[in-house]
Amino acid sequence: MCGIVGILGKEPVAPLLVDALRRLEYRGYDSAGVATLEDGRLTRRRAEGKLRNLEARLKDEPLAGTIGIGHTRWATHGRPTERNAHPHATDRLAVVHNGIIENFRELRQRLEAEGDVFETETDTEVVARLVTHEMRKTNDPAAAVAAALPQLHGAFALAFLFDGHEELMIGARKGAPLAVGYGEGEMYLGSDALALAPFTQTISYLDDGDWVVLDRKGAVIRDAFGAKADRPKIRTSAGAFLVDKGNHRHFMAKEIHEQPEVVGRTLAHYLDMANGRVRMPADLPFDWAKLDRITMSACGTAYYAGLVGKYWFERFARIPVEIDVASEFRYREAPLSAAGLSVVISQSGETADTLAGLRYAKEQGQHVLSIVNVPTSTIARESSAAAPTLAGPEIGVASTKAFTCQLAVLACLAIGAGRARGTLDAERERELVAELVKVPGLMADALKHEAAVEHVARDIAKTTDVLFLGRGTNYPLALEGALKLKEISYIHAEGYAAGELKHGPIALIDETMPVVVLAPRDAIFEKTVSNMQEVAARGGRIILIAEETAADEAGLVPAGMIPMAPMAPEFAAIVYAVPAQLLAYYAAVTLGKDVDQPRNLAKSVTVE
Ligand code: G6P
Repeated sequence: MCGIVGILGKEPVAPLLVDALRRLEYRGYDSAGVATLEDGRLTRRRAEGKLRNLEARLKDEPLAGTIGIGHTRWATHGRPTERNAHPHATDRLAVVHNGIIENFRELRQRLEAEGDVFETETDTEVVARLVTHEMRKTNDPAAAVAAALPQLHGAFALAFLFDGHEELMIGARKGAPLAVGYGEGEMYLGSDALALAPFTQTISYLDDGDWVVLDRKGAVIRDAFGAKADRPKIRTSAGAFLVDKGNHRHFMAKEIHEQPEVVGRTLAHYLDMANGRVRMPADLPFDWAKLDRITMSACGTAYYAGLVGKYWFERFARIPVEIDVASEFRYREAPLSAAGLSVVISQSGETADTLAGLRYAKEQGQHVLSIVNVPTSTIARESSAAAPTLAGPEIGVASTKAFTCQLAVLACLAIGAGRARGTLDAERERELVAELVKVPGLMADALKHEAAVEHVARDIAKTTDVLFLGRGTNYPLALEGALKLKEISYIHAEGYAAGELKHGPIALIDETMPVVVLAPRDAIFEKTVSNMQEVAARGGRIILIAEETAADEAGLVPAGMIPMAPMAPEFAAIVYAVPAQLLAYYAAVTLGKDVDQPRNLAKSVTVE
């Protein structure tokens, strides 16, 4: 999955394309490229690696032209070399692509048989050559694109630029997002509203199957059948967000530190604090009291948020919750009852597997409630109802503030569902709301222990394997802590339910492997203490994240201690996420890793 942008402008577009690509780099950063028309002739610059390499290239060899397309890549077909970087071009056109053309081998064979010689290993070059073939027949770019699109199987967002056509750009969308932006005598295409934020706040999202012909005056959108289509123009607020690091070294650090504020903002949206009640999203098309089951699906960190949510929904609202990673859910043909609700969770709202899970649930006749951070995303738009997380743009590839905001929303929904189903009385609801209200302050407290985390992280950075343990809602948090560490420091880590320790991972314990134990004082604290004793008895090195007195009470001398304030156990997982994130962050910083853009990952995974 990649980021694409196109501009029909008045000024030289190359710097503007790079600016837009910077905002899209979260979608991939293996290589980048731009193409413009210089005096009507197609010219391109591409570079392997991060966007700064392309910028350096453009500094040495600038590109003129007021119309152009740009791309930042996350490699699917073909290594991330300059040759495989987009835009891909023929003598007639250049194209940028986000997605996968599934039948590209078959198309390539056909085109090769007709005499085409391919330069790259990518699926995208097939698109460039196929449209060029069609153009040779008609000499009409729009007719050529219209003829080529039905031949492409798979998911794509495309933007085409044509040699000799200063007043023309064509975009197409199937299964990957694409937005049209409207300016004053300028027009834009982009993977999302954020990319276009510096240029315009007026955009239309293309529907699946749509394609669009742009000139500087406007856009003509057609649906998959070629009929003119009207897609609503909306005003986005993406421009309101400043995407910078503030005083922090990395976006991830900034986003970790923003959590008291954004979790507070999210809670304020869902809580009527004066009356100690949850404010549920309005106009939900289902009745919580009549649900017999919730089926959740999500990917990565959002999946772990769902796992925590399962505990809350089952405890507070007594609804059975089934949860799957979306890449499994979409294919396992789960029987879904009409009285069930599907919940999907996604920061970006564009994750391909999660979107496919959503569509599967809808096909089965279920209502889908999405918990999303990008309100204009495909997932938000396709769900029956969307519950927003108010985290603001998350730029660091490793999710942090979106995760804790997802937890905040799940906690509120579970309490609200409990009230609707009569499993929580008003008094208990008030108590739980009072506990939730304390969470942002407790997160701010946790941030004060940053130095202690940094100290422990330096130690962790020397190791090759780490085990994370937790029970109850802290079990998914152990999984998330391990994921964070893997993602950004490349240290191997595993999360385990503390009770499972003796069923396998205990064999790994020796005097070198750190075992991070997330142990808030909850009803099963004593059980977690027993698990720590089991580790200690085998010479294991415990890193304890718990109240300051916990080690003494457990009779342990941990190798590392991250102290936490006393708190009620119900929502401790939201607060304990902070040291888990900081631990990964400082381990990666100690090792000199690229924290915000870890190798091989991308923030928004819009391919399978
Ligand atoms: C990618 C990101 C993860 C994220 C996951 C799901 O793998 O690197 O940080 O948790 O996608 O993304 P979503 O946008 O659906 O929450």
